[in-house]
Amino acid sequence: MGHGARHVAIIMDGNGRWAKKRFLPRVAGHKAGVEAVRRVTRAARELGVECLTLYAFSSENWKRPAEEVSDLMALLKYFIRADLDEFHANNVRLRIIGDYHALDPSAVEMIDAALERTAGNTGSTLVVALNYGAQDEMVRAMRSIGAQVASGTLAPDAISPEMISSHLDTAELPPLDLLIRTSGEKRLSNFLLWQAAYAELYFTDMLWPDFDADALGEALNSFAGRERRYGGR
Ligand code: IPE
Ligand code: IPE
Ligand code: MG
Repeated sequence: MGHGARHVAIIMDGNGRWAKKRFLPRVAGHKAGVEAVRRVTRAARELGVECLTLYAFSSENWKRPAEEVSDLMALLKYFIRADLDEFHANNVRLRIIGDYHALDPSAVEMIDAALERTAGNTGSTLVVALNYGAQDEMVRAMRSIGAQVASGTLAPDAISPEMISSHLDTAELPPLDLLIRTSGEKRLSNFLLWQAAYAELYFTDMLWPDFDADALGEALNSFAGRERRYGGR
């Protein structure tokens, strides 16, 4: 508590390198990554983070070999099956960002059931980014705004930053405070490009399967010491 970060997002990167270091198949890294998700979602709750957004599968991750994509989908389903009860018992509301309807029908069905089950929860929000890409999100938002303009129900002058925000997948979430990326890569990889406008960025060399409560605490401490200016002085 006291860190002041309402909304924390994480680019969970480095599962493959974690496995490689151990001479294990990549899927072992993804499995260890699920364990890290478990630890970190618990820790975020305990540390008073109101909203945690996890980048689980990007709109570009379809480029990976079919076997890896199917391993990731199987792990997603396993995670929902194994962990949803705990989230629900802890009053956590699940949300998805990204075009998740493009996932396989059995995953979509499980996700929709989980969303419905936890919709009324008020403790905290866990947002999972699935088939998410910020450019795709903006394209979908522009199409919907464009359709309103074309039909004459919206004047182009009425388009504002707030209005665009309200058409993004993150519409009802608190503003993004802190964006963490593990594994030493220093790029956003098409994650929350609009929302990150004034987010604080935190990069760590730690690989995602090694990330834990202490590592999250360190990131939140770093955030607490930052001075945010939003262009002012
Ligand atoms: C992150 O780990 C998990 C996903 C992108 C789904 P990677 O699989 O990208 O691991 P590295 O970057 O190859 O180490
Ligand atoms: C970003 O990681 C996507 C997720 C963590 C789900 P990637 O491993 O896909 O990103 P790049 O390819 O290194 O930019
Ligand atoms: Mg990666």
